[in-house]
Order: sequence, then structure tokens, then C-alpha cells
Amino acid sequence: MRGSSGPARTRRSAAILAVIAATGVAVAFTSGPDGPGAAREVGAEQQVNRETILKGRQLVLEHGCGGCHGGDANPAAPGFLAGITSPAQEFPIGACAEQPGAEPCWMTRPRNLTPDNTTGLGRFSERQIFNALRFGLRPGETADVEITSSTPGEGNFPLSPKYLAPPMPWNSWRHMPDADLWAIAAYLKHGLKPVSNQVEDSEGPPDFWASAYTEETFGSYPAPPFPAAAEQEPVDRSLRDRVLAGRQQVLEHACGDCHGGFQNPNAEGFLAGASAPGQIFPVGPCLEDPSAPCFMMRPRNLTPHPEAGTGRYTERQIFNAIRHGLRPSGTPDRDITPETFPADPDFLGPGMIWFEVRHMSDADIRAIATYLKHGLKPVNRVMEESDRHPDGWGTFYTDEEVGTFPAPPFPTVNEVGG
Ligand code: HEC
Ligand code: HEC
Repeated sequence: MRGSSGPARTRRSAAILAVIAATGVAVAFTSGPDGPGAAREVGAEQQVNRETILKGRQLVLEHGCGGCHGGDANPAAPGFLAGITSPAQEFPIGACAEQPGAEPCWMTRPRNLTPDNTTGLGRFSERQIFNALRFGLRPGETADVEITSSTPGEGNFPLSPKYLAPPMPWNSWRHMPDADLWAIAAYLKHGLKPVSNQVEDSEGPPDFWASAYTEETFGSYPAPPFPAAAEQEPVDRSLRDRVLAGRQQVLEHACGDCHGGFQNPNAEGFLAGASAPGQIFPVGPCLEDPSAPCFMMRPRNLTPHPEAGTGRYTERQIFNAIRHGLRPSGTPDRDITPETFPADPDFLGPGMIWFEVRHMSDADIRAIATYLKHGLKPVNRVMEESDRHPDGWGTFYTDEEVGTFPAPPFPTVNEVGG
């Protein structure tokens, strides 16, 4: 978590919480006690096979679960997915995310996702994990039942839902297909070694964030039909399937948390660049030492505007940005191989989580590029450049810091199965 994605994640939370502070949730907070659903027998669950576990692993890497829960996208890293181990990894949520000391302020804590029976997910069934990812319901305080509605009181959806605290991006994860969420649950329960690490419970408002998670901000589930207000039909209709596939990837990978509009393609400014105050954020040594240098990250306009957005780039340049972290405006338009990798690479700053999303398949990344170029309305909004590190960020991106691509073979020292 040090150095790169940790700070990026912290700032992503600031963006979300700037939004949430504006909704005016109550100032008092309570810590959520472990409720009746907490103790649960592990065992009689669906059959899991190696293929499902490997699929779950792939999804966990490309969605960057380890960016908050430990170890980033490196399954061989110490503490991978085992939860935070220091107060420096907590998220201040509320007005204090923008201004230290301001109220309201809640500390939230990414939990231990390994299958340890007392401190991790061993206590919960795969269905409870599924319900956490699809509906944002806290597994420790939600009954282990099949849920068929998102309306409180209907279809087993709790009348008083206890939601997971921000910045847990369940509003994005819920857009994954059922089979993907089940595969993640199978990997967490059966593909990881249990690690004992008790993470203190998160703080939250009395309504457990119910008034914070609005459809207006985070979009609806399922997503509105294509094209929504910020979108357009591709001029070349033969691209439509790929545009829809790319839209799906953009929603489920939380691109809008930083690039604007969260998961709401009806929102004004969807993917048109940082708009909420916290979406422009510092990275670098200043996060640990306020007198040290800071680099401001400005998530860019991804709409296909010919001057202000991705209209300037080819789909291959967008692909190279997501797979290799290469800045499209500073990188020649060519296929990247070990031989053609630039000698003096111009990397995107670590606020862009390319070292997580690079684990997507080629087809998924290409679909995203097609969606950005052909499925979005161009928005003429010029974003100021991010600050560049004098060395183009190259020294930041070590294997130790961001893991390897491709990922190390399964199982690593943190994993089980064979
Ligand atoms: C931006 C940070 C962030 C990312 C990325 C993230 N989480 Fe979380 N997650 C959290 C926080 C914070 C909590 C604690 C919420 C609370 O206590 O209410 C949490 C809680 C959870 C829980 C509930 C655990 C429990 O014991 O109650 C599960 C399950 C979970 N996350 C799974 C995932 C998975 C799977 C991914 C990747 C697909 C992921 N998370 C990515 C921040 C994150
Ligand atoms: C945690 C915040 C964050 C998330 C999530 C995120 N990005 Fe970014 N992205 C950034 C930042 C910051 C930059 C600018 C970095 C710089 O200029 O050095 C950026 C830059 C980019 C660029 C380069 C654009 C240009 O004009 O140079 C592309 C393309 C991009 N992001 C696509 C995506 C896609 C697609 C997703 C979702 C799969 C995504 N980003 C998710 C923060 C984020």
C-alpha cells in the first residue's frame, strides 16, 4: 500500500466523501457491533473448482481489491488481502477528508478478506460475500439469505439495511455479472490462506450510510439502457456490441470514481474529468511528510472531444495507457512489445491505477477504448495537466511496489489450491 496506489485510493475516497459530506448525513456516529449474522458455519457451500478460483483471483487483481485491503495487485505481497495493519491506512470520511479536524468525520477500515474464522471472511458464507458486493450489505449484520430486490423490506432486502462504509466501491462491483461475484467469493474463501488480523470496526452515521448512497450520484442498478444522457450510439453501428462491452467494463471498474460521474452515465460530466473537489488529489512524499514535494493528480477528460479528450488519441494509445501506464499524449502510436517499449517512458502518474486495471484481458481493454471513442458524447472540458515527476514516474513503478504483469503463477505463498 505504500507510495502509489495507497495514496491514490485515499484520495479516491476523498472524492466520494466530499460528495457524501454534501448530502448532510448526521454528525453523530456509532460503531457497528457485530450482529446476529456474524457467527456462521463454513462448509456446505456450492462446489468450487480450480477454474472458478482462478477466475475469482483474476477479478480481484483487475479490480484492485488489494489497493485497499492489502498487497495491491500483487498476490505474493506480504499481507495480501489481509486487511489494514496501521492507522495510516484508515480512511477519514466526511468533511475531515478535505480538511483535517473538520466535522463530520468517520474513520473507516478495509477489512481482512482472508478466510480466517475469527478475524476474516471465514465467519461468512459465500452468499453473504455475494450480497456485500452486489448490494453493499455488511456481511456481519445481514442475514444469510438470497436477496431478490434492492427495495428495503422487499425480496429479503433488509428493512433497515446496514451498508458497507465508503470508500468500499460496491456501487461499481455490483455491476459485475452474478458468476463473477460468485467467483470472487469462491477465491476469497477457498483460494487464500487464512491470516489472523483483527481490523477494528469502521465508524459510520446512525443510518449506516443509507442516505449517502443515492442513485443520483452513484447511478442505478441495473445501469440505465444505452445510450444514457452522456452517451451516444456509435456512428458505425457495427461497433455497437463492443461499445456495450466497454461500457460494462467502465462501470464495473469504477473509472467514474475519479474521471467524473461515478457509475451514472446520465450524470452531467460523466467521464469528462475530475469534478468533485476530492477528485483532484496529491500523491507523493507529501502524504507522509507535509514538507516534502506533492504531485497533483488531475483525472482527465475521457470523452472523445477532439481537443480536450480522447479524440486526440487512437484506440491503441488508450490501450497502451491502460495496459502499460504510458501517457497517450507522450507515447508513439504503436504496438508495445518488450522490443518497442519506449526507452524513456512517459508514464501516467500513480493516481491512475493502471497497475491494477492492466490485469484485464486484451479484449476488455480494447472494448473500453472503443466505448470511450465511440459511445460517449464529446465534452469540451479542458483539464489542466497532472504534475509530472521529473523522471516520468519510472522509478516509482517497481515490481515490489505494483506487482508483476502477468501476475505470478497460482498459488503464491499467500494462496492455497493446486
Ligand atoms: C477504495 C478502497 C476499497 C477497495 C478498492 C475495495 N474495498 Fe472492500 N472494503 C473497503 C472498506 C473501507 C471496507 C469496510 C467497510 C465497513 O467496515 O463498513 C470494505 C469491506 C469489504 C467487505 C466486507 C468485509 C467484512 O468483514 O465486513 C468485503 C467482502 C469487501 N470489502 C470485498 C472487497 C472486494 C472483493 C474488493 C475488490 C473487488 C474490494 N473489497 C475493494 C474498501 C475497499
Ligand atoms: C483512482 C483514480 C482513477 C481511477 C479509478 C481511474 N483513473 Fe484513469 N486517470 C487517473 C488520473 C489521476 C489520470 C491522470 C494521470 C496523469 O496525468 O499523470 C488518469 C489518466 C487516464 C488516462 C490517460 C488520459 C490522457 O489524456 O492522458 C486514461 C486513458 C485513463 N485514465 C483511463 C481510465 C479508465 C478506462 C479507468 C477505469 C478502467 C480509469 N482511468 C480509472 C485516475 C484514475
